[in-house]
Amino acid sequence: MRDLVAETHVRVDDLVAPLFVREGISSPQPITSLPHVVQHTRDSLRAEVTGLADLGVKAVILFGVPAQKDAVGSGASDPQGIVQLALADLRTDVGDDLVVITDLCVDEYTDHGHCGIVDEHGVVDNDATVELYAQAALAQARAGSQVIAPSGMMDGQVAAIRDALDGEGFDDIAILAYAAKYASGLYGPFRDAVDVEIADGGDRKGYQQDYRNVREAQREIDLDIAEGADMIMIKPALAYLDVIADAASRVDLPIAAYHVSGEYAMIHAAAQQGWIDGDAVAIEHLTAIKRAGANIILTYFTRWFAETASAS
Ligand code: PBG
Repeated sequence: MRDLVAETHVRVDDLVAPLFVREGISSPQPITSLPHVVQHTRDSLRAEVTGLADLGVKAVILFGVPAQKDAVGSGASDPQGIVQLALADLRTDVGDDLVVITDLCVDEYTDHGHCGIVDEHGVVDNDATVELYAQAALAQARAGSQVIAPSGMMDGQVAAIRDALDGEGFDDIAILAYAAKYASGLYGPFRDAVDVEIADGGDRKGYQQDYRNVREAQREIDLDIAEGADMIMIKPALAYLDVIADAASRVDLPIAAYHVSGEYAMIHAAAQQGWIDGDAVAIEHLTAIKRAGANIILTYFTRWFAETASAS
């Protein structure tokens, strides 16, 4: 009876698996703070994505870890950059069975760890960075990305990427805009996964949002939609269910929420201590994110859910 009247259901189709591919390694590397998640080699990534497609997963989002980092994050737009090479592999393997989304940012590629070009005062230069993003978007598009997801929170990034894509005939590539992305303490394990440390103990408060604000999120979302976003994202998820619910009531586009690395790690850490039932909490959290109004959830639980939870 409870199932019959349940208002919210999480399905494999709702989930997107974040995956990391690292240049120059010969075997997958575990990430201590993200149990069951690894930095993939190109080959192990291929096997993982084929396996996910076989499990019925509909989408993955790719992050690259380059062998060399530099001031401008060159690897992000290099045709031989790790994500571009991996994309070509994956499109060959899975074709249209599974959507390959590419995160578009440069923090994984810069030696200072910021999401853009830094000026002489150590401040990110918004407009110069947006041009860099347009180049990276083209590199991803040429390599076979189907959805580009800019996560750098620069003003005007969606419009610049849309223009660049349309200018080269990539009209059918969608943009999933990280629209309301907060400067959160929950990204720690992700930064381990991509080997990022922000120079001089810096932070991203200059470009990511202040968690005290919700009306600001509305403005960010509206701007991204006006600039051409096809889907919008709110990130992190659980501490921002009000932001998700607010967007769901106002916005007529698919809404994604990113259940981020710290949210995943907290569940595993507490479960390892025997303090919570990790599986039960994972389902509860994913369900709550959907109940708040998200249509799509990016989560490190995707494989686990596809393998076990969806069958129960
Ligand atoms: C930036 C980016 C971050 C995440 C996704 N894209 C980190 C950051 O903004 O510092 C975090 C995802 C997670 O914590 O799972 N390229």
